[in-house]
Amino acid sequence: RVPPTVQLVLFGGGGDLAHRKLVPALYDLHREGHLPAEVDVVGVDMAEMDDGGFASFACDAATSLGRFFPKDAANQDWDAFEERLAYVQGDVTQAETFERLRERLDALAPDGEAPHRVFYLSVAPFLVEPIVRGLTEAHLLDDIVRSRIVIEKPFGHDLESARALDRTLTETIDESQVYRIDHYLGKETVQNMLAFRFANVLFEPIWDARYVDHVQITVAETVGVEHRGGYYEGAGALRDMVQNHLLQLLCLVAMEPPVAFQADEVRNKKVDVLRAVRPIAPDRVHEVAVRGQYGSGFLGGAEVPAYRAEPNVDPHSTTETYAALKLEVDNWRWHGVPFYLRTGKRMPRRVSEVSVQFRPVPHRAFPAGADEAWQPNRLVIRIQPDEGIVLRFQAKRPGPSMLLHPVAMRFDYDDAFETPPEAYETLLLDAIRGDATLFMRADQVETAWEVVQPVLDAWADSPPAEFPNYASGTWGPAAADRMLAHDGRSWFEPLPPDPTPAG
Ligand code: BG6
Repeated sequence: RVPPTVQLVLFGGGGDLAHRKLVPALYDLHREGHLPAEVDVVGVDMAEMDDGGFASFACDAATSLGRFFPKDAANQDWDAFEERLAYVQGDVTQAETFERLRERLDALAPDGEAPHRVFYLSVAPFLVEPIVRGLTEAHLLDDIVRSRIVIEKPFGHDLESARALDRTLTETIDESQVYRIDHYLGKETVQNMLAFRFANVLFEPIWDARYVDHVQITVAETVGVEHRGGYYEGAGALRDMVQNHLLQLLCLVAMEPPVAFQADEVRNKKVDVLRAVRPIAPDRVHEVAVRGQYGSGFLGGAEVPAYRAEPNVDPHSTTETYAALKLEVDNWRWHGVPFYLRTGKRMPRRVSEVSVQFRPVPHRAFPAGADEAWQPNRLVIRIQPDEGIVLRFQAKRPGPSMLLHPVAMRFDYDDAFETPPEAYETLLLDAIRGDATLFMRADQVETAWEVVQPVLDAWADSPPAEFPNYASGTWGPAAADRMLAHDGRSWFEPLPPDPTPAG
């Protein structure tokens, strides 16, 4: 349920994420009638702006998305949204900023109402602590039920710093007030993994080591590091993508059924998966982890530069832009089933997929030669950009003899449903409603760091010998292929993109 009175405060309200994602998502929620009538959206930032300046910034953000044009004459939706916007200029390391913020919020709140307050921290990591302190000292987080903070990754830089951050947070506020965003969990296709597995009887009985040979999780991007060299140099693909998004996907594929779709129950079941991941021994890192860095190459017909030639990147950088891992989940369900994870920038296509490869049939009863094209069943959960599920199975090829051929059954979101909401819309609404199911709890974040920490340590200790080791526009370094070949397997070619609809 959406509370009747809500004040949403965007720290970093004049920044990049606010412009690209948060303001457009809020405007969408407003247009769709999901926000309460009594809502205030208050931007806080260093930039000198007044309420009108913030409204122009927001208008530009919504317009640049290209889906709607708030500046159009007589756009009542926009006018009503604009009335709800306010701005507080200030330095978040200064206590007086929070005093002014509190005065402004109190003045905006309707008389006699205690609003729910959501403080969204879209700021550099070093500002999280001062903001939480400032809010606490200004008594803006005293109400455990009605006030919460939303924070963006990175949640620490490694296990130790993540623990330190959590300690700082829980010294001042209650863990139940902390909403850690992993935007992958807001994607419809990602949430659908729970529905698919636990609202259907067909797959769960075969979702285990007896029937599943292995699982592959691919998150490939065509973009390079773009203008984020400064951040990315200190992060790399393992921290930027694997520790969070890919491990969350792993949890959703591998978790046990929750008893109820409630925040702590779902999060308990997910963290159990991470706790069951076999710790990677330091001397085995080279067998189960591969890193890569893109060199120059061609994408979409255009030449693109090497990572080392990108802005704000060290020309001798050893930061990885590709990471692949082989993980084993040591529990009864998954014993002996490898999970192969890979992610990289400057891959040939933007595609995220989870492929569950089933085992071959135990006995082939068909005549010799019938099954030359035989391929074991495979279920592909297509996360983006083509959203859907594809199941591959064998069929008899029409004709006089018994010849088997693999065919596919497909479900496409586009055919079945309307355009799904953006991940940020879902997550903002959940934060407003106080539903933490799709947010990361401290123990999840820390356990995910525990999984990757041995690899981070080993990679820090031995710089890569030959970076760059994959050309832009290819599927990553040869060592990643060798890792699977060693197990008698290979990476699946992602399913071809759906044709673009005519017109
Ligand atoms: C972010 C990473 O968390 O996810 C980026 O920091 C990455 O490096 C992005 O590009 C990918 O998100 P999406 O939703 O485009 O797959």
